[in-house]
Amino acid sequence: MKSFGDVVKQTDPFIILFCPSCMNSTLANQIVTKHGTPLYAYDLAEVSQRAAELRAELPAGSSVCYSFKANPLPALARRVRESGGRAEITSEGELAAAQAAGFTGAEMLFGGPGKTRTEIQLALKAGVRRFSVESFRDLALISEMCVAEKVMVEVLLRVNPSDAPDARLAMTGVESQFGFEEALLTDASARERLKLPQVKVIGVHIYFGTQVAGVEALVTNTRRALASAERVQQALDVPFSVVNVGGGFPWPYGNDHARPSLDGLREKLDEVWSQSPFAAQGVQLWFEAGRYLSASSGWLIAQVLEVKSLPTKTFVILDTGIHHLGGMAGLGRVPRGGVTVFNLSRDVSAEPVMTADVVGPLCTPLDSLARGLKIPAVQSGDLIGIPNVGAYGLTASLLAFLSHPPPIEVTHEKGQECEAWQLRHGHAQISA
Ligand SMILES: Cc1ncc(COP(=O)(O)O)c(C=O)c1O
Repeated sequence: MKSFGDVVKQTDPFIILFCPSCMNSTLANQIVTKHGTPLYAYDLAEVSQRAAELRAELPAGSSVCYSFKANPLPALARRVRESGGRAEITSEGELAAAQAAGFTGAEMLFGGPGKTRTEIQLALKAGVRRFSVESFRDLALISEMCVAEKVMVEVLLRVNPSDAPDARLAMTGVESQFGFEEALLTDASARERLKLPQVKVIGVHIYFGTQVAGVEALVTNTRRALASAERVQQALDVPFSVVNVGGGFPWPYGNDHARPSLDGLREKLDEVWSQSPFAAQGVQLWFEAGRYLSASSGWLIAQVLEVKSLPTKTFVILDTGIHHLGGMAGLGRVPRGGVTVFNLSRDVSAEPVMTADVVGPLCTPLDSLARGLKIPAVQSGDLIGIPNVGAYGLTASLLAFLSHPPPIEVTHEKGQECEAWQLRHGHAQISA
């Protein structure tokens, strides 16, 4: 039986198709009958498969940290854990999700800029003993709280190397809020400044950016990360036991475009790693992955509410929009044009093609999932599916805007529903 994630490459990604061959529409209809639309459906077998594929392309003995920001759904993250991943978390919500997914504190790395006392305290209480530290202020705060809690933690220094990365969204090589500029750590004063009670520097953490396109770029970034780590280690003159080189492993977002190939990555990374002095020192090599592990598992399934035909334009109005698939809409990164929409209700291949804007129910013209799509005619009541939205889907969206109920999230495997979850929003009065 085909799963939701078995996406067939279309020649024209902008045309809505009936796709019985790429999605288990029977299961989709069963889940929708039970839970209604819109909903997110995640195939857990996809998560296992991606985790196994990624592991096979990374040097033996290296670890993969799952970035909860991609998708914190505990039922999905649990599968990552079962596939051997660690947890990379950055907030108290992600901490709670990681715990619900079964990760122990020892399996978590708590990172992110601007950490608060509350989240550090919660993390310490949960047994987190490894932090990625972004600044001297971050380190001082963690140290102070570890003294109060009488615990010792290990820290990775997040470094912003001067090199610009090969990534679609660069997070190093530019002035940013992330990490220590490398020069700060290689400065002679750094050694003393990092000597604080109850915190031990055990390595560095470098994250170049997301959607790194292709094996060569991933290899170059890893080589640069290891070189930067080496410079920092030499300057600080402390032994390292972990070097986290990030990742940025790519996957299509909201469309069925061809997946980027990681073929040959293992061989090249093995070479880069074997040339690093850290390999001989027994240092652990860590990577981070969010979208690569979760994106392919997820489909957003929605219903066509109305087809509105005007003299020069047609609008297909769905019961989902940028409040469920925002793609960082709040940051001006609305996914336009590239969204692929499959018709799950019926074969529309014989329908005449029309051009339509696919929009949601929010009271803003920004609520658009695609503009000018060529669509074999759809009609009110049709079920549609958007593939590759298991990462940066629901929790990267304007969920509470206009206060529609959050969609149900359903995990499934081998044609069977596993678990159903729902994010909550809405106001709870906290004063008496
Ligand atoms: C520090 C860090 N690690 C990992 C990730 C996950 O990236 P991706 O989902 O592209 O793997 C991000 C994403 O922004 C990040 O900021």
